[in-house]
Amino acid sequence: MIDINKAIESLDWSKEPKGLYEPIAYTLASGGKRLRPTLALIASALFGGNEEDVLPAALALEVFHNFTLLHDDVMDRAAVRRGRPTVHVKWDDNTAILSGDQMLIEAYRLLSGVPADKLPQVLKWFNEMATGICEGQQYDVDFEHMEEVSIADYMKMIELKTSVLLANALRTGGYIAGANEAQQQALYLFGLHIGLAFQIQDDILDVYGDPKTFGKAIGGDICCNKKTLLLLTALQTADAASRDELNQWLSVNDRPEEKIAAVTALYNRLGVREAAEAVMEEHTALALKQLEQLPQNAACEQLRQLAAKLITRKS
Ligand code: IPE
Ligand code: IPE
Ligand code: MG
Ligand code: MG
Ligand code: MG
Repeated sequence: MIDINKAIESLDWSKEPKGLYEPIAYTLASGGKRLRPTLALIASALFGGNEEDVLPAALALEVFHNFTLLHDDVMDRAAVRRGRPTVHVKWDDNTAILSGDQMLIEAYRLLSGVPADKLPQVLKWFNEMATGICEGQQYDVDFEHMEEVSIADYMKMIELKTSVLLANALRTGGYIAGANEAQQQALYLFGLHIGLAFQIQDDILDVYGDPKTFGKAIGGDICCNKKTLLLLTALQTADAASRDELNQWLSVNDRPEEKIAAVTALYNRLGVREAAEAVMEEHTALALKQLEQLPQNAACEQLRQLAAKLITRKS
């Protein structure tokens, strides 16, 4: 398979003004799992596709993903990503906004390299995905300030902010390589379900991860009252005394360390991590079911293994 890191490295950011392009080079050189382009390439391999044909879309998806991270870190006031200072910390908010915008434009430029007969459909899907992510991000910030958020609301929000990108990477890779409609749909649904599990694991790692391997600060979600599955499950399952205690902490804004420690202790007492892991496993099983409709070859086996790995990942 094409070395996706090499392909990303070969993008040239040595342009002027440096203030616009250096943060882009910094971000794309900082690693990350490269999950989305990998999914697109595996989905193409499922159907014996030509890697060169899917590469423009794979790169576009990764550059787009990195763009969302620049803006997400401004919105979440996150200081560390991939073990390094975020762009808005190393530079400033304006830089993260404008370099992010330029990455979005660059993603579309890369996407325009998709084989011409496939481009209209790929572009339509890309636009739907991009809109979905903005909607998901808006729900995510709206929910921070809302008291009543249901688990169904949360699932819809993470489907939008996270799953649609994974799902679209898979469907796009398959489509370019000649997957039929039923297979495109199976790939999309596989992506939606692994995406839900993926975001739940991200929420778990935000509390229980090791900052060295996770690459992000721990407790950020607790500090800003993110309505994660952990918090919503805690609010739903707690007895009156624990719920009061939790609600009191939700109104604290000025003692982050104490808040993180207290809310984590409540989570531990209520066993919400185990409950969230069970939901993750449910969605992984639903994802794996979709694979039955796809060619049973080495690429399919790679998808199977990847789905299992994502829910035990530490980074
Ligand atoms: C981070 O995505 C944003 C989420 C959807 C949780 P990744 O965890 O895939 O980030 P990188 O690209 O590997 O750093
Ligand atoms: C991920 O949400 C969704 C997007 C970046 C679009 P998070 O805010 O949980 O992602 P991290 O944890 O900052 O990577
Ligand atoms: Mg974030
Ligand atoms: Mg966020
Ligand atoms: Mg997160």
